[in-house]
Amino acid sequence: MTQIAAPDLTVVVPTYNERENVRELVRLLDRALGKIVWSVVFVDDESQDGTADEVRQLSQTDPRVKLIHRVGRRGLAGACIEGILGSEAPVVAVMDGDLQHDERRLADMYQIMQDSQDTDLVIGSRNVTGGTSGDGLSRVRKWGSDRATALVKRLLGLAVSDPMSGFFMLRRRAFNEVVCGLQTHGFKILADMLSAAQGRWKVVEIPYQFRARTAGESKMSINVSLEFLALLISRMTGGVLPVRFVLFLFVGATGLFVQLAVMRLAMLVLGEEFVWAQGIGVLVAMTSNFMLNNMITYRERRLKGAAFLRGLVSFYLVCTVGAVANIAAATALFHFLPLWFVASSIGAIIGALWNFWASLIFTWRAT
Ligand code: GDD
Ligand code: MN
Repeated sequence: MTQIAAPDLTVVVPTYNERENVRELVRLLDRALGKIVWSVVFVDDESQDGTADEVRQLSQTDPRVKLIHRVGRRGLAGACIEGILGSEAPVVAVMDGDLQHDERRLADMYQIMQDSQDTDLVIGSRNVTGGTSGDGLSRVRKWGSDRATALVKRLLGLAVSDPMSGFFMLRRRAFNEVVCGLQTHGFKILADMLSAAQGRWKVVEIPYQFRARTAGESKMSINVSLEFLALLISRMTGGVLPVRFVLFLFVGATGLFVQLAVMRLAMLVLGEEFVWAQGIGVLVAMTSNFMLNNMITYRERRLKGAAFLRGLVSFYLVCTVGAVANIAAATALFHFLPLWFVASSIGAIIGALWNFWASLIFTWRAT
């Protein structure tokens, strides 16, 4: 069962709370891969259910099994990137750790790679003849997934049928061409890679049937959907705006509504005390922005307890400096260029950039 030869194929499996699936997946891989010399790398982000321990234990008896254990980080895309970078084989597959992807297709994918050396990527697709989302997705999710797929194809100009697939095989040398341009934030690494490759890759798609999950639960969430939208916008700017900054802007936009709504309420209560009402509106908006950023933009390093309070205070300070910078820049600019709209907008942009970078460093310490 054990072998020391360098693998021809490494399977990268991102995991978050998949303890019950790990052993079974290795067993299925063993059965499905036949004569291919393979290894599997699990990339775990501090699962609380002991996934990493389970993998470590397996690797004691099976040297084909490896673990990359990441701390203080979350994110499917980033986990896949690290797994691929850490793999030894010239051909690498990525698949989920929850048994939803059909491991029996891996041998066919590998065969395509062998037969056609110029193929860079083979995608396991649910949307070509023979493939289905089957029992794997609820009706609501299937609908959302189809809309998102159409959007991605149109906005990023991708020609493949299932750019959202989390099941694919690629050559290391092809991956190395695009890795520097990839976003670690988010769920959809395949769409990101295809967009970064700008049509240079030779891509083959083969059908597979997405299976239902039996153990554990999906990590798909509102957060993941927002990250996906942010990834789209980021990609449309050619990566100039990082995903995190786009998320920060989403939250900032909600802050504007919060401020106006609270201000209106405060005016009703306080009468015509405009300054006080505005002050309360700003304070509440800053607080809600802090909480939303803590939940969405920085979810993998969410502040809790005492760190939450310290973070809140530092966020107030950061935003106060941002507001001063905003006003100072707009006023100075207006002096030279008396167009209020331009001066005011540039002030707002400078304020937002400051708030983003300063809170990144001081509040969430995410450098
Ligand atoms: N390391 C790590 N870190 N792994 C994660 C994280 C994370 O933050 N979030 C999720 N995972 C792992 C899960 O443990 C699982 O093995 C895999 O990534 C997919 O997560 P699921 O939560 O099961 O996603 P899904 O089933 O809703 O969606 C999957 O299938 C779709 C259809 O192919 C994903 O692969 C999608 O990208 C894909 O579109
Ligand atoms: Mn799944």
